[in-house]
Amino acid sequence: MPEPQRVAPVTVRDLVRLSAAGRRLVAVTAYTAPEARLCDAAGVDVILVGDSLGNAVLGLADTLGVTMDDMVRHTRAVAGAAQRALVVADLPFLSYQTGIADAVRNGGRLLQAGASAVKLEGGSAYVPTVEALGHAGIPVIGHLGFTPQSVRRLGGPRVQGRESGSAEELRRDAAALAAAGVGAIVLEMVPGPLAQAVTAEVSVPTIGIGAGPDCSGQILVLYDLVGLSPRLPHFARSYGDAGAEIGRAVERYAEDVRAGRFPGPEHTHDGRRWGEPHPPGRDAPS
Ligand code: KIV
Repeated sequence: MPEPQRVAPVTVRDLVRLSAAGRRLVAVTAYTAPEARLCDAAGVDVILVGDSLGNAVLGLADTLGVTMDDMVRHTRAVAGAAQRALVVADLPFLSYQTGIADAVRNGGRLLQAGASAVKLEGGSAYVPTVEALGHAGIPVIGHLGFTPQSVRRLGGPRVQGRESGSAEELRRDAAALAAAGVGAIVLEMVPGPLAQAVTAEVSVPTIGIGAGPDCSGQILVLYDLVGLSPRLPHFARSYGDAGAEIGRAVERYAEDVRAGRFPGPEHTHDGRRWGEPHPPGRDAPS
């Protein structure tokens, strides 16, 4: 039997190379092994184990309650399932703001869990942290604009960089992060012209979300794009309705159980090993 073809995993350096070659980068969040398997098979370049885990999966109001243990567990699940995509894991709130040693220790934990890079939120103030992570062999992705871990200070999910002063600051932050060695910069909720200017100025790709069409790539929260989020942000687009599909499947299952149509005799455990085909003459489960 021929060996299954293994594909070379995307690296942080590849992001710069692919982007310089004119390829728009495709990134998506994922939190579990099945999600990672599907996104990887769909050919995305980057899978982010985002701390949006808090809102998307854990039912929290924001990302502030997400812990390192949460991130390690979900990073392990995603990294174990993704074969080609670059797996980036978010450093959660208070895992790096408290000091450089904490950042390196926690970044290292995420790499040990299988991530190939970590993402942190913030600008020039985090240059020493980005450099220390780099020295420790931990590639970093930056995140500017609306930074959800600062939601209390920012007063909600608001567009950042509207005024000339804050736009200038964001441009300086992007240049400082690029010089410090980040592999890419996520720009979240930034006016389109500002995102376009930053993308033209910095030496690393930008990955936009709510930042218009002129970034080097795009990221969406998986649940927004597959129709599993209760509310779709205006800057996202839904490409499917997995929520409706799951609801219909569970309804049909409930109807079958209540009507005695499932399980049938063929669904009795008969000593076959997991995954073995059904013996001839017996119906496969529908
Ligand atoms: O946590 C997350 O999902 C993110 C993306 C929105 C960029 O940081």
